[in-house]
This record gives sequence, C-alpha cells and structure tokens, in this order.
Amino acid sequence: MSPPFSQVDANGRLRHLITLDGLGRDLLAELLDRADGCLRHTGPQPVPAPLAGWSVAHLFAEPSTRTRASFELAAVRLGAYALNLDVMLSSRAKGETVEDTLRTLESMQVDAFVIRDAEAGVLERAARQAAPEVSVVSGGEAHLSHPTQGLLDALTIRQCKGRFDDLVVSIAGDIRRSRVARSAHRALATLGATEIRIIAPPELMPDAGEFPGARRYESLDEGLTGADVVMMLRVQRERGGGAPAPGGDDYHRDWGLTAARLRRANRDAIVMHPGPMNRGVEIASDVADGPQSVIFRQVANGVAVRMAVLTHLAEARRARSR
Ligand code: CP
Repeated sequence: MSPPFSQVDANGRLRHLITLDGLGRDLLAELLDRADGCLRHTGPQPVPAPLAGWSVAHLFAEPSTRTRASFELAAVRLGAYALNLDVMLSSRAKGETVEDTLRTLESMQVDAFVIRDAEAGVLERAARQAAPEVSVVSGGEAHLSHPTQGLLDALTIRQCKGRFDDLVVSIAGDIRRSRVARSAHRALATLGATEIRIIAPPELMPDAGEFPGARRYESLDEGLTGADVVMMLRVQRERGGGAPAPGGDDYHRDWGLTAARLRRANRDAIVMHPGPMNRGVEIASDVADGPQSVIFRQVANGVAVRMAVLTHLAEARRARSR
C-alpha cells in the first residue's frame, strides 16, 4: 500500500496543488488575498519576478482556453519560462506513459508541472514521483477537481459580495460530471458560504454522499429563488458517465438561465459561468452579456489566482531550502 499523500509541506504550505480537499480556511483566504494583490500585475508590465529562473511546463491532455492561457501568462508575468507541450503531438501519442514524460521533462530541470488530464489519479501519481523541489499543479482532473477554478470563483464572489456568510449560492446544470462544481463547493464550504444549492435534472445529479451539506433541487426555478450567486454549468457530453440529458432547445427550455428565470434570484445576484459557454443552451446570450454577469471578471481573476498559486509555491520552496 502507498504511504499517505500530502500536498502540504511540514510548514503547512503547499508543495503541490492537486485538490482543495483538506485545505483550511486560512490557506484559502491567504491565496485569495495574494490573488487580489496580483490583480495589479496582470497586465503586460513586468512585476517583481518571484519565479525568475523557473521553468513551468504545461501539459494539457484535454482542450482548454482559459486555464491553459492564464497559467502560461501567470508563469511568464512572474518571470518564469513557460514550456507548453502539445500533449497530442508529444511522445505520449507514441505510447509513452505520463510518468516517463514527466521524468523526461524533469531531467531538463523543470520546476513545476501544470497538468490537465481526463484520467482520475494522474495528478497524485505525478506528485508522488516528482523530485523533492518540483511542484505539480492541477489544471483540471477528470470530473474530480479543478482547484484554481474553485479559487477564482471564490475570489470573484468575495470581490462582488464582500463576504461568504449570509450568502446563497446556486450551482446549476451538469453537476454530476463537473470538476468545477466540486471545487467550487469545496472552496465555498471551507470559506463559510451559508447555503450551497446544487440544481440538476436527476440524470445529471451527483451520487448521494457527494457535495456534503449542499441542498439539492430538481427544479431550476425553485433552486434560483432567493439566490445571491448563480453559477451555470455546461453539459459535458464528451465526458460520458451520465445518463443522456435532453439536448439543445429542450435543455434550454427546462434548464437554461433566461432573463425571466434570473428574476427569481435576488435583484443583486451575480451570474457566473466557468466557460466555455454554450449560449442558448445552459445560458441565454442576453444573460451572459447582461449587467449581472461577472463571467469575464472570472476570466481576469484566473490569471491572478494562478499567479498567486505559483508565487506561494515558490515562497514555500524557498522556505524549505533555508
Ligand atoms: N473554465 C475552464 O476550465 O475553461 P477551459 O476549459 O477553457 O480551461
């Protein structure tokens, strides 16, 4: 049996970031504070370079726009070299294992790996085999975890609402296959959100026992009533594993966020979506572009959160080497 795995070092700081599970409120709040500070530096101007001399390798085995681009920009803006391997054109396509790919790049003095993979367990395996000062960061793992997305969602809510207590957060759509929903739930529960609702048709609802403490709704209208935050999710047909949900127009009729439906939420409710959006399916275009939408603010916060995580890892590494 493998020894227990910890992504936190003896000083209570991150050595890796694979999941938000098990991370305490103080650590999450520190990362959000740090990200707020990084927002001043998300433009092209160089910032003090805490990652000077680092090489950060991005290995994305699933499609991505936001996560990959923001990790790459974060690394570059912190002074690191960003190595962007096209996994589908790498030697993995010739049968090389993930472990051998990582070991190969580690031999070239990579300091951190950012990995997105459809297979559950790859991130922990990578972290277990990493050399002592190499960090592994999740860019999204199967349906399980997307920790930096959870952090950027929490940061956006904190900026817009100024608090987590006394907040009702409604997360709606394909919860069953959503790593975004799992990480948002974990972050918000840890940070003290008063009520988290998950809203989905039965075939897209997660198993009982998942999302502890969340209230479950099988009606979008009911689940939106009185919400302060509305987070819509895309139906992830490509991931398999769920019973077929109604498609296109039918889904929009029953499960799409329209302006009329949004009026059930509180008047100052914010509308979130991790992207990519399917306009006219889970969200109407006028809502996505409307005054309550903070969807592109989430994207901006993504760079800051990834800068915060990388800076934290670099400081933790320096502290361990003293
Ligand atoms: N939210 C998110 O993970 O988007 P990408 O798939 O574009 O990275």
